[in-house]
Amino acid sequence: MPTITFANTKGGAGKTTVALVLAAELAQRGLRVALLDTDPQQWITRWHRLSEKPANFTVVSNVSEETIEQEVKTLGKKMDYVIIDVAGGVTPLLAKSIGLSERVMIPVQGCAMDAAGAAQVLEILRELAAQCDIRIAHSVVLTRINSIITTRALMAVKALLAEQQVHVLETALIERAAYRDMFVTGGTLHTMEAERVSNLDKAQENARLFAEEVMSLVPMKVAKAKTAKADGAKAKATKAPKTESAKQRKAA
Ligand SMILES: Nc1ncnc2c1ncn2[C@@H]1O[C@H](COP(=O)(O)OP(=O)(O)O)[C@@H](O)[C@H]1O
Ligand SMILES: [Mg+2]
Repeated sequence: MPTITFANTKGGAGKTTVALVLAAELAQRGLRVALLDTDPQQWITRWHRLSEKPANFTVVSNVSEETIEQEVKTLGKKMDYVIIDVAGGVTPLLAKSIGLSERVMIPVQGCAMDAAGAAQVLEILRELAAQCDIRIAHSVVLTRINSIITTRALMAVKALLAEQQVHVLETALIERAAYRDMFVTGGTLHTMEAERVSNLDKAQENARLFAEEVMSLVPMKVAKAKTAKADGAKAKATKAPKTESAKQRKAA
């Protein structure tokens, strides 16, 4: 069943939060969800230790470049959705994860730095298409958006994405304490106590709309040529570190 990778090469862009919000929301609907933690910092795993563990919500820790393909293959047979949380940086694991996905979600906060991190992910997607003829659907999801003010930075990011014809989800994740608190208290928006978390109902509604939009974009049953994609991603994965070191040399 479909695999979705959350990617932005910049740390702090909101990947882990958005991935968890989506996974929890899908599990809340009774779907079988696996959330793969590939980040060495293991934020999802830390959250999981603090949280109740519904039977239909599986967290897989310490997923590596070596194990990801097998994990996705095995879980894909048992789960309704497989969601992958990737660390920042341009890595072979990121390329591989992208190659195994039906759709890549790129969280972007309304600031220029994030847009640069998103551009690197878009570049990997373009290279996969050009070099391996693998076209992976992708969308930007705007996050940490101020619920009242549309900032100039956000408008600039939106304009830039529209110019590049990048699909942007209609539902943006709003800046909400509830999304931060999940990692402190454990649990999900549905197990938190409303009197302890401000605007919990608004966060729940926001997450519901977000999950519905993702489900409409990535329905549970998707026809796919996974093997071809994984092979192409492998080729790309072996190239990724070279590209990065070349860039670093150039920058030095
Ligand atoms: N919608 C949001 N509302 C409030 N805080 C958020 C939101 N999205 C992310 N954050 C906070 O921003 C920080 C970075 O988010 P995180 O998901 O860890 O990013 P990444 O995984 O890309 O490094 C965290 O402290 C997280 O709690
Ligand atoms: Mg993260």
